[in-house]
Amino acid sequence: MRTVIEPFKIKSVEPIALTTREQREKLIKNAFYNTFYLKSEDITIDLLTDSGTTAMSAKQWGKIMEGDESYAGSKSYYKFENAVKDFTNFKHIIPTHQGRAAERILFSVLGGKGKYIPNNTHFDTTRANIEYAETTAVDLPGEDGTNPEKLGDFKGNLNIAALETLIKKVGKENIPVCMLTVTNNSGGGQPVSMKNIRETKNLLKKYGIPLYLDCCRFAENAYFIKMREKGYKNKSIKEITREMFSYADGCTMSAKKDGLSNTGGFIGTNDDEIAGKAKTLLIITEGFITYGGLARRDLEALAVGFEEVFDENYLKYRIEQVKYFGDKLMESGVPILVPTGGHAVYLNAKRFASHIKPEHYPGQSITCEIFKVGGIRVVEIGSVMFGKKDAKGKHIAPPMELVRCAVPRRVYTNTHIDYTVEAITEVYKNRKKLKGMKISWEPEFLRHFTAKFDYI
Ligand code: F0G
Repeated sequence: MRTVIEPFKIKSVEPIALTTREQREKLIKNAFYNTFYLKSEDITIDLLTDSGTTAMSAKQWGKIMEGDESYAGSKSYYKFENAVKDFTNFKHIIPTHQGRAAERILFSVLGGKGKYIPNNTHFDTTRANIEYAETTAVDLPGEDGTNPEKLGDFKGNLNIAALETLIKKVGKENIPVCMLTVTNNSGGGQPVSMKNIRETKNLLKKYGIPLYLDCCRFAENAYFIKMREKGYKNKSIKEITREMFSYADGCTMSAKKDGLSNTGGFIGTNDDEIAGKAKTLLIITEGFITYGGLARRDLEALAVGFEEVFDENYLKYRIEQVKYFGDKLMESGVPILVPTGGHAVYLNAKRFASHIKPEHYPGQSITCEIFKVGGIRVVEIGSVMFGKKDAKGKHIAPPMELVRCAVPRRVYTNTHIDYTVEAITEVYKNRKKLKGMKISWEPEFLRHFTAKFDYI
């Protein structure tokens, strides 16, 4: 059979809002034209994020009842720890309530003035946590990684030559760690090849710099390796994952993605000194070392999620659903970042709304219009999220202007996807009417979450 089906049936359903265009125009205006301010009860299809929005399985819900809510030494923690060690093989597994807590702790331990932390592309919270620790975050995407129109199997790869140049320029003693984000979220959910992970490690080894994976979507990355990289076709996802982690000295993970759960994260490391310092910070800010800010029942759900995510039928459905979404948009002529990534379709806002300059936020304008047309919530990943200002206040745009339509795991059917494609296609047909935007208020860090907008 050629049709790829959801490898599950639906046991429990949740109603979604169906609103009129008139209502949606008011709702988005009242939300200051920022989709983060919308109430979920007013949204028809929520593609804001694939993080923590997973539908859990009956087995996960069952295990939640078994949560051992002891403060210290909970049975649930050991199940979680075993599940994580099984694929990472790290010596220390330190739970946190979500990924950014793991980042804050790790970079508080490793960062500091005059230090640099490279990555293929830092995710927004990763960059913010590094900068908050007065450290410089450096993005080193591969050549094709910032070209949304160029096809490629592993556009998430890190530019190894650029990494060596950086090491020589700033000195190996000033790079406490090199990160590698799998898949590369800010770069379009694109995978990193095993070859690139291995070669990054080999270079870092020469200089004595540890490699840490930002591994939120490790299973999706492993699936792409199996499908696209020579020599991996007959390997299981678990084997591929283990090899990926074998090159790393540690990791941070937001388990809200490939942990197939609604919350959680962790730091993994083989370094006793880093682990010791991280555990102290964990106790100060998150909780004891056997729960790290999570209810122990959440650790139960994660332990099961880390079994289910290795199911190849699940991963096939997952990657194919995102591809189906991207293919349908392309059939309608909508410009998207190609090829489609693991967890989202990214609209190429620069081509979609080519009449709007980056400093007038084309992606934000598209995002608002998609809500007005279909009640669909998506998010800008471009000048709003990553734009900076030079000393004279001139806008410095990031390499790409994108709008991310993230697909929650096991939540929407392909009919929901068809509806979304219809709405986006309509916005595209009327693209000439899209207007540029300005920011009327913004906070100091991570402005996209709470900034307020207006049309110019
Ligand atoms: N790293 C990456 C690559 C991520 O995609 C995220 C979160 C984090 C770290 C932080 O994890 O949210 O658990 O604190 N990404 C979500 C998203 C928010 O929508 O892409 P967190």
